[in-house]
Parts: sequence; C-alpha cells; structure tokens
Amino acid sequence: MCGIVGYVGKTLDGKAQNVVMEGLARLEYRGYDSAGIALVTESGVETEKRAGKLENLRSALEAHPLHDSRTGIGHTRWATHGGPTDGNAHPHRGGKGDKLALIHNGIIENFHSLKKELLAEGVEFRSETDTEVAAKLVGAEFDAVGDLTTAMRNVVNRLEGAFTLLAVHADVPGVVVGARRNSPLVVGLGEGENFMGSDVAAFIGYTRHALELGQDQIVTITPDSHSVINFDGSPAEGKAYEVTWDASAAEKGGYDSFMAKEIAEQPDAVANTLLGRTKDDGELVLDELRISEDQLRNVDRITFVACGTAAYSSLVAKYAIEHWTRIPVEVTLAHEFRYSDPIVDDRTLVVSVSQSGETMDTLMAVKHAKELGALTLSICNTQGSTIPRESDAVLYTHAGPEVAVASTKAFLAQITAAYILGLYLAQLRGENYADSAKVLMTELREMPAKIQDVLDRMDRVVEMANFMADTRSVLFLGRHVGFPIALEGALKLKEIAYIHAEGFAAGELKHGPIALIEPGQPVFIVVPSPDSPHELHKKVVSNIQEIRARGARTLVIAHDGDEDVVPFANEIIRVPQCSPMLAPLLTVVPLQVFALHLAMAKGLDADQPRNLAKSVTVE
Ligand code: M6R
Repeated sequence: MCGIVGYVGKTLDGKAQNVVMEGLARLEYRGYDSAGIALVTESGVETEKRAGKLENLRSALEAHPLHDSRTGIGHTRWATHGGPTDGNAHPHRGGKGDKLALIHNGIIENFHSLKKELLAEGVEFRSETDTEVAAKLVGAEFDAVGDLTTAMRNVVNRLEGAFTLLAVHADVPGVVVGARRNSPLVVGLGEGENFMGSDVAAFIGYTRHALELGQDQIVTITPDSHSVINFDGSPAEGKAYEVTWDASAAEKGGYDSFMAKEIAEQPDAVANTLLGRTKDDGELVLDELRISEDQLRNVDRITFVACGTAAYSSLVAKYAIEHWTRIPVEVTLAHEFRYSDPIVDDRTLVVSVSQSGETMDTLMAVKHAKELGALTLSICNTQGSTIPRESDAVLYTHAGPEVAVASTKAFLAQITAAYILGLYLAQLRGENYADSAKVLMTELREMPAKIQDVLDRMDRVVEMANFMADTRSVLFLGRHVGFPIALEGALKLKEIAYIHAEGFAAGELKHGPIALIEPGQPVFIVVPSPDSPHELHKKVVSNIQEIRARGARTLVIAHDGDEDVVPFANEIIRVPQCSPMLAPLLTVVPLQVFALHLAMAKGLDADQPRNLAKSVTVE
C-alpha cells in the first residue's frame, strides 16, 4: 500500500533528493496520506516528513532544504498502524544518536510483543507505528555488528508478517539495504548509481534495467554494486529483466488525470494483450504457460481468486470459460477463499487475477491453493511481481502501467486474457462448445477498434455525468456477462465519485431491490445483444419496463440497431455490435467514463480517491 524509493549515487549533490522525490511522485498512487524522505548527508542522516499529500513534503523541503547527498530513501504512506500524522509518517529513526533511518511497506504482525520488549529495555518511541519497532531493532543491531546488511538480516528473521524495509545509516553513507517478505521491492541498475522501488515506476526515468528479487531476500546497493542474500544468509541472485515501457507511460501525457489516460489507452491494452498469442492460422499458442498440456487437459474444475475489479473480470471469465470448455468455474473473493475450506485438489486450476500482482489477499489465496495441491495460474499486469512468481504459470496482460487507483484498462486486459485462456483450453481439450475458438479470436482482434468507437461516442455520457453531479444514488443492472459489468459500474462510481451505487443481476430485482425504485431514481441497464441465447435480451427489456413503470430514470446501454429498448429508455448509450460473450469489453467503457466525469464534476481527485490505495498489500 505504501510506496518506497531508494537511491545511491557517487556525487554529493541534489540528485539523491530529486530522484527520491520524483520516484515518490510516481508511486504516490500506492498511498498518499503522508510522505517522508531521509538523506545521508555530510552532517549525518537528515529527514523531513509530512502528513498529507506529497505536495506538503515538497513545500516543507523548500522551506527547510536538506544538505546535498548521494544516498536517500523516501516513502509515501497508506496508514495501517497509527493515523496519518507527521509523527507516524516514515522514515523512523533508530540506533545510537538516531543514525539509522528506515521505511516500511506492509504490516509487522508481532510488533506488539517486540515493542513490549524494547519498552522494557527503556527504548523510547515517538510514533504509534509498527515500523518504528523495526527501526529501533535494526538501529540497535547495527550498533552491535557495525554492518547494515547483517543488522537487517538479524532483525528480519525476528519479524512476522509482510514487509519491505529499506534502511540507510549515517556511518555507511553510500549504502542502501532493502529486505522483502510478501511485499514488493525491485532494484534498478544504473551506471554508477543504483535504485530500489516498490515498482519500476520509481526509477523508470533513469534506467530500464531491473532486478527482480525472490521471497525473503535482502539486497544491498552501493553506486557500483548490488548483492542479494537470503534471510538465512546464503547468497542469492536476483532475476534481471528489461522494463518494456518508458517514463512517458507512467506520466499523464496531456490528460487531466491518469484515469482519463488509462481509459483512452484501452484499445491498446486489449490489442497488446492479444499480441503474439495466435499462429497465422488462428491457432492459439501460449508458450509462456509453464503448465503442461497434459496437466491442463486433466483439469476438472477452475477456481478464480481475485479482489475488487479483478474479481469482476473473473466473473466475466466464468461465463465464457464454462460456455467454451464445459469445465465448472467458480469465482471466490480471494480473502474469502482461505477461510471457506475450498474444495481443491491436483485437478483444480486456481487462476488468480491481479493488476498489481501484489494484492495480499490474492497472494495468500494462491499460497493456500498451492498448499492444497492445486495448479496455480496468474493473470497479471505487473512483470516481476509476487503473485506470478508464486504461481505455477503466468499469463501476462499487457495493459502497461496502471496508475489511477480505479482500475480501467487492466480490467479490459484481464477479460481479454481470460478469453484467451478459455479459448486455449477449449482448443486443447477439443471441447469447443458451440463456438469456434478461431472465429472468436478473429472477432477479439476487432475489439480494439470497437472500443475506440465507443470512446469516440462519449460526449453524451460526459454531459449526463455533468448534470447528475448531485445525484445521491445510482443503480446498475445486468444479466449474464452484463451482471459483472453492472457490479463494476457501481464500484467505479463508489470509489471515485463517493456516490452510493449498487449493481444487481437484473433478474434479482423483483426479489427485493425493486423496492429501491422511486420516481427519478437513475438506473443504468446493460442490455445484452438481441442475438443473445435464451431470450436474454427480451428478459432484460422486460426488466427495463418494470423499473420504468415505477418511475426509474432508465439509462440504457444497448448495441447499435437494438430498437426494442427505445420506447423504455430515458437515455440510450450505443455500443457497436459484437458476439454476446465479448460485449463486456464495450459495455463497461461508458460506465468508466461516467464515473470519471461525475467525480470531476464534483471537483474530486479521480486518481487518488479518499481512503484507498492502488495496491492493497495488507490483508
Ligand atoms: O492489483 P489488483 O488487481 O489485485 O487489485 C485488486 C483490487 O484491489 C482493485 O481492483 C480495486 O478494487 C480497484 N481500486 C478497483 O478500481
């Protein structure tokens, strides 16, 4: 949830501060209730930290500049232990003369007992955080052993929970030491300078050479070297890789917000996710899957585990994969999975879906599935992140970095990856039910242009959002693959516009929720295409009539040429025609645009909604 940056270079100047502050700006999406920096200068370790957004830290640094430095660490926080105050902001200090500064992402679960021990020894604390315990412990270890890597190693082995820790010490001015367990940390390798970050965005302006760390590892960087060891002290090596996107991908590029930019990038997100996954004749090839074809043929049950938007893309996957393969698919919220005594064995494929690859609930579900003997596959957008590393196989989405807290382009890329997986399984098992994989792959390749077409038609949706700025409640209805889209539309509105919103399966309405309908109540209805099976279309048109008869304001998302909805719609938002199963890639777009513009009309910061963070790395 927090963002972490570390830098070490050769020259004593303002660069360390600039690199850390730029990195924090790129990582602010991970947490933004306070921020802080520590620099190792000629006068020792100097820190500045402030509650509130990064801007407050920037102003404080302008008012009280720190000295030149070649080593620095910085932190942007999403509070877990202790409120968002200056005192609780990181870095925290430890050791004799407070010579050590330490920052932390995650939760140290046994901090109470450790703090009790330290208090009994007379150690004084200045914050309510779990982090300060680690700072005091590493500081004291350094005083005892005189080496920062050893000090870190001696302490991490006493900590329980999930953490990334970064530390600097006044006595070793050209060194940053980092440690990770179940929490992200990547290393950036430069020329005469090295970096660390919660993700590569922290240093992408300086280098694209990155080093992925394994679980329970410690990394030490100096300007000219990096070394990795395991928590047990044995030597280890990170996995080097090249970042395939550049700094501009992590910037707004002329858009008002990252969310606006990421919505606009959706045609590319889908196109890039499809790239290289079929032969010329349309046959699907998934070379990167590290699960054998025999193992996949043997699968008799699929369970998706995910949270939030990723869980809604998983719900779309359920409809598609069950239809195409006849394998039973269930979707479980990752945080419920572990506690539901799941029925999982070696013929179960557990698919985790995660944009960040760091969501703790999802990671823990994957680990639990592995313990139970399942095959685990990760659909993930972030290369080198923890969940794909912990899984047997990975299917990367190629949406590019997603910075806005509200997920948009990752959602479309996840749905696309799930379609690819479903069609691949259908092809592999020869159970291609009803549809042909090749025909659908051809149609999938046409979807980026159709998504662009939807984006080009959004003027009326923007107008609607502007005049609905004081709306207090919005309902969303859908059936079949339209149901997860209704849930996603409601989630977007809740999280960035702070409006009460609920998504329902349209058929469920008459079982209770219809009591919410009163004159003027805005209701979005995601209408399936008229050629949907099982008279689905007709049934949704009836649902529209039922709510319209009770005074609802019906905001209908319907395909081009669907005239049946016209008499019952207060507003019609048109999307191009497509196969019923692929429609989510189109129908969700107006709902994303609506939520963004409603948030803007209310004067809210859509990229950084209150109380939220982009990657939820605590359970
Ligand atoms: O990084 P992940 O995809 O694992 O994140 C899962 C959810 O936390 C995420 O989708 C969240 O619901 C978004 N804020 C939704 O817009």
